[in-house]
Amino acid sequence: MRVLRWILGALVALVLLVVTTVYGVTEWQMRQRGDVPARTPLAIVRDSATIARGAHLTSTYAGCVDCHGADFGGRIVIDNPAVGRLVGTNLTTGAGGVLAQYSDEALDAALRHGVGPDGRKLRFMPAHEFSGLADADVAAIIAYLRSLPPVDRTMPATRIGPLARVLHLADQFILLPYDRIDHSKQSLAAAPVGVNTAHGAYIANACVGCHGPQLSGGPIPGAPPEWKPAANITPAGIGRWSEDDFMRAMRTGVRPGGTTIDALMPWRLYKDMTDDELRALYGYLRTVGARQYGMR
Ligand code: HEC
Ligand code: HEC
Repeated sequence: MRVLRWILGALVALVLLVVTTVYGVTEWQMRQRGDVPARTPLAIVRDSATIARGAHLTSTYAGCVDCHGADFGGRIVIDNPAVGRLVGTNLTTGAGGVLAQYSDEALDAALRHGVGPDGRKLRFMPAHEFSGLADADVAAIIAYLRSLPPVDRTMPATRIGPLARVLHLADQFILLPYDRIDHSKQSLAAAPVGVNTAHGAYIANACVGCHGPQLSGGPIPGAPPEWKPAANITPAGIGRWSEDDFMRAMRTGVRPGGTTIDALMPWRLYKDMTDDELRALYGYLRTVGARQYGMR
């Protein structure tokens, strides 16, 4: 009995030690400040074509609306005891919104570098996917955000759960995108246009968060268990799809065989991509290396 009690006591102590370490280390990491190199300020034109480009990007492949809400007034992205409550901020000038606290430079720093105006590292905000956005596109997104009507909505605080912390420490979940970005990388002045692989690759930056850096799919790191794994979109997965098959899937959520693609796959946003954008993406996906499913 005494031995058993001793073992139990040691186990409890071990668990407590692990929990304290996980929370201690991750809290410390989240409190580290990030800084961004000085850059030449963006030229922000607020004409209707620019604002339309910003609206297009935020509601298609940049996908801001998925996490910040269709009205940009904020949205709870994940609320799960283990993963935590990940909250997309209210990005308007309404009550509970943060836009008024952000200069244009600060918005750029949040978007492409993953830091808040006070140097706070943003959590879960996929700046590593946006770090490759061209200057003109970032300017368009900012012009668009500034054109939006205020939304009064106070969002609950973000809470980072134990699973997200452990996965982050195991390098399986991108909690602090700031740490994943090459902050000295030169940005493109403008996005590629037309039906070519450069344009396709530019757009495909938006797919890697779920489909993995190599686009081969598999379980989405840090996702709640009820989320479907992402599909293999390398040639080993969709190599037999014709361009029409791909366009139909991206616009209607229906595969060539007639089965439907789970709503987690944001085709409701992608359906509004232009023909050129989708064709460029299709062309690019044919050039990436074929990989077995789940090799991320
Ligand atoms: C996958 C979800 C997701 C997507 C997509 C996303 N965001 Fe975020 N964003 C977040 C979360 C979560 C936060 C809150 C970060 C925090 O609290 O540390 C955030 C924070 C921000 C902030 C800082 C606000 C603050 O809390 O001070 C800005 C600015 C921002 N996002 C802009 C954008 C824009 C613009 C886009 C589209 C180009 C975008 N986000 C796309 C999840 C997302
Ligand atoms: C928020 C996560 C997410 C993002 C971002 C995302 N996908 Fe998906 N995608 C999924 C999931 C999950 C599935 C599997 C759905 C299912 O099993 O029904 C999927 C399935 C697909 C399929 C169907 C393939 C098949 O064989 O069933 C295609 C094509 C696809 N995605 C293309 C893309 C492209 C291109 C992008 C980037 C522009 C992208 N996805 C971005 C989550 C995502």
